[in-house]
Amino acid sequence: MSVYKMKKSHNLLEKAKEVIPGGVFGHYKYAIRDTGPVFFSKAKGAHFWDIDDNKYIDLMCAYGPAILGYNHPEVDEAAKSQYGLGNTVSLASPVMVDLATTLVEMVDAAEWALFGKNGGDSTNLAVMVARAATGKEKIVKVRDGYHGATPWMQEKGRPGTVSSDANHVLTVEWNDLESFEEILVNHSDEIACFISSPYNHPVSRDNELPAEGYWQKVSALCKQHGIVLIVDDVRAGFRINLAGSNVAYGFTPDLICFGKAIANGYPLSALVGSNALKEAAEEVYFTGTQFFSAAPMAAAIATLLELKKSDAANKMNDYGKKLKSSLIETADEFGYKFIASGVPAMPYFRLAEVETKVHFSWIDECVKRGVYMLGYHNHFISTAHSEEDLATIIQVAKEAFTILKKNY
Ligand SMILES: Cc1ncc(COP(=O)(O)O)c(C=O)c1O
Repeated sequence: MSVYKMKKSHNLLEKAKEVIPGGVFGHYKYAIRDTGPVFFSKAKGAHFWDIDDNKYIDLMCAYGPAILGYNHPEVDEAAKSQYGLGNTVSLASPVMVDLATTLVEMVDAAEWALFGKNGGDSTNLAVMVARAATGKEKIVKVRDGYHGATPWMQEKGRPGTVSSDANHVLTVEWNDLESFEEILVNHSDEIACFISSPYNHPVSRDNELPAEGYWQKVSALCKQHGIVLIVDDVRAGFRINLAGSNVAYGFTPDLICFGKAIANGYPLSALVGSNALKEAAEEVYFTGTQFFSAAPMAAAIATLLELKKSDAANKMNDYGKKLKSSLIETADEFGYKFIASGVPAMPYFRLAEVETKVHFSWIDECVKRGVYMLGYHNHFISTAHSEEDLATIIQVAKEAFTILKKNY
């Protein structure tokens, strides 16, 4: 298998730097590697092509959204026909009501829904609803838990933030019930909410599932102290359980934040919640010029129906399990220990018992041969990934391990 060249991508990156700070910004910037692609030319199903015309099996799915694969015909058709009728208009579209109804029917904890564009819109709104409902200020979150880019969500000291942005944020360790209970007891009259993803998926570390009984205890403590329980399902949403990832772990939150995969790449996010918080959700000032665009809402309905019809969560789970065991077996043949953590449909990969640079080198060698992965972030399975893709991934993985054996 020949190794890809990325000349056009890197030439365009230099040109981009003249007119865009950093050339490419945000989380896409951190993914840029000297030997990797930077700009895509087209995408279809589980694949994209870079501007040097190299084809990739995409194990990132645009960091989650492409859950049914790129350019899914039913989803695109639903969006297109709504664009034909009108997208952002001076009135809301009935499709908004249809989408809210779809979510209320599909998601166990949902009795209402509100819509934004990015996951960060829904996590911000969730916290505002919790504050409005409780009259309390503080937010408890898990260390390294990512909820978006608003200053309060960022690590202290990041450029452009001020220390007071995070004044009301208290941090606990994942799965640490003792410290969680301690913080609640010490600050219960100040804490509005606990916000957490359904399992811990930080960057640059193995992902961790909830310990047995963790969520039941957290949920009971929140109830006891009058604290709103928010599940940030922006990343894992619809890849574990269509009814909400919390269902898989046997508990019911007050609010759930969705984003990423909800409309298969059309810009949309949602906050859903219980009737107890409906009044607070109505009182909070939450809006945006683009929040009412109807085409992404039509795309979301089509996405959710297709996910349900195709039993997508189970399929992605099975595929992720096969990918995990095949990669572990392949690594073992070459004498490497390979770890895939997190849920099967969103695996975080790590080559263990070697220096980090060896792990990154393996990822680079895979990318150069057409399997797009990241060394520091969980991956995403879609329903478009095929058995043929799996066979290619394993062939590429073998070539990459062969190179590692030579170089290290
Ligand atoms: C768990 C989680 N919450 C919130 C967000 C923020 O979503 P967005 O980038 O769409 O604002 C992300 C994005 O990666 C996320 O993974």
